[in-house]
Amino acid sequence: MAAMTGCITFLLNGEPRQLPAETPPGMTLLDWLRGPGGLTGTKEGCAEGDCGACTVVLEEAGGHRVPVNACLALLGQMHGRAIRTVEGLAGPDGPHPIQRAMAEGDATQCGFCTPGIVMSAWAQAREGGAAHEALAGNLCRCTGYRPILDVFAGLVDDGSPSPALPDVSGATFAAPGQVFHRPATLAEALALRAAHPQALLLAGGTDLGLLVSEHRQQPAAILGLSGVAELQALSTAPERLVVGAGVTYGRLLKALEEVPELASLAGLLRRLGSRQIRGMGTLGGNLGTASPIGDALPPLLALGAEVVLGSARAGERRLPVAGFLTGYRQTVLAPDELILRIVIPRPPADAIFVCEKLSKRHDQDISTVSAAFLLRVAEGTVTEARLAFGGMAATAARAASAEAALTGAALGEESFSRAAEALAQDFAPLADWRGSAEYRRQGAAGLLQRLYWRVARPDLALEVQA
Ligand SMILES: Cc1cc2nc3c(=O)[nH]c(=O)nc-3n(C[C@H](O)[C@H](O)[C@H](O)COP(=O)(O)OP(=O)(O)OC[C@H]3O[C@@H](n4cnc5c(N)ncnc54)[C@H](O)[C@@H]3O)c2cc1C
Ligand code: FES
Ligand code: FES
Repeated sequence: MAAMTGCITFLLNGEPRQLPAETPPGMTLLDWLRGPGGLTGTKEGCAEGDCGACTVVLEEAGGHRVPVNACLALLGQMHGRAIRTVEGLAGPDGPHPIQRAMAEGDATQCGFCTPGIVMSAWAQAREGGAAHEALAGNLCRCTGYRPILDVFAGLVDDGSPSPALPDVSGATFAAPGQVFHRPATLAEALALRAAHPQALLLAGGTDLGLLVSEHRQQPAAILGLSGVAELQALSTAPERLVVGAGVTYGRLLKALEEVPELASLAGLLRRLGSRQIRGMGTLGGNLGTASPIGDALPPLLALGAEVVLGSARAGERRLPVAGFLTGYRQTVLAPDELILRIVIPRPPADAIFVCEKLSKRHDQDISTVSAAFLLRVAEGTVTEARLAFGGMAATAARAASAEAALTGAALGEESFSRAAEALAQDFAPLADWRGSAEYRRQGAAGLLQRLYWRVARPDLALEVQA
């Protein structure tokens, strides 16, 4: 096992920084920046990944700029990264053009959100995409978004090159009361998992980072996976996608641009959290959390995806996602196992594949009910129906009765209404503050009926997660 005890090293605004050995590796990047780092431009609003006041940018290989929430990122995860904060934008001639545009365009008032918005804008200037998507993770309470959107409409990439990333290998960071293992290879990671089954397993940290940022816990041992090269692999073949458990949603979305039959999945993922959350969050983490409202789970179920697990003890095993999820936030994962990758079959050419998400807000919101449907129709008859729902039971699951009601039925409104009624045999949803049981029942039935209209009347152009 490699993992030498070392110091956290990263580039900060282009300058190499090596943190003193006693620095707690589980401290948030935000706390470090605003404390020992002495950079108070990055703000703390919510400390839970929602407001974007803490947005900084990771400068990645290939010149990519990835905005992330510094309130969720732990220092140990930043080893080997290049971080740009708002202090790193100004040049010898004064503020960066984006900062000038914000000030001169009346796009800032109290200014608390502004550094985060400037950093999202700096990333957007290079990466492009819809402005509303780039801003979905930044909350401004006083200016109003019109002048901010005007600034986004005029963004120009400043062309600044990304610095070369520090060359780092596997390391363990130990501070009083806390140890953070950061393996660089799968073999190291599996050996560490076997040796430390109680350590907090951390991928992007967009679920687990909340323990530290919001709940102020300090885990004694953390096993951070973001440096494991094998978990970052992503390949697209004619029949399937193979997505390493550590691939971020941001990277997955780029790959999905080349997979038109999964456009609806891309639309759904663009509504998962914000760009900042998608810059760190992973598919492996969504499976590991096994939340009944994990957005990636219904599509994986409907597509018949498989998950590959691995351990130093028993090697690899591969099982359907449905078999991986065993109960509310429970999975078959053994204490010494890791999720290695997810194998996602591409839908057949004649299949209709649609993802849906019902939430109180369009962006940056958790689902109340979500769904993914794979439908095949031949000569006016439904020949295959895979109907998966989230938020309807303790785990995301397929609706066996509704599927049976639809399979072999004529492609007609009545068939879909009967399938919607059959959902009552599949699910007895719970009520919580996101929605009553009745809301969930009606919402799920409505999504199924909308599927009919999507198929029968494509001319209606019903919005799919645009
Ligand atoms: C502001 C905000 C908005 C969000 N919005 C959404 C949303 O719209 N939809 C949604 O579904 N989720 C949302 N989330 C939750 C979260 O972003 C996702 O669940 C994400 O996929 C978690 O991935 P991660 O890599 O950050 O996981 P982590 O937090 O690192 O880990 C999550 C869990 O998975 C386990 N795990 C991670 N990797 C592995 C592995 N390789 N092997 C075994 N176990 C592993 C961890 O041990 C942990 O139990 C949101 C979170 C925040 C903070
Ligand atoms: S402080 Fe609000 S997202 Fe980080
Ligand atoms: S300017 Fe005050 S919160 Fe945006």
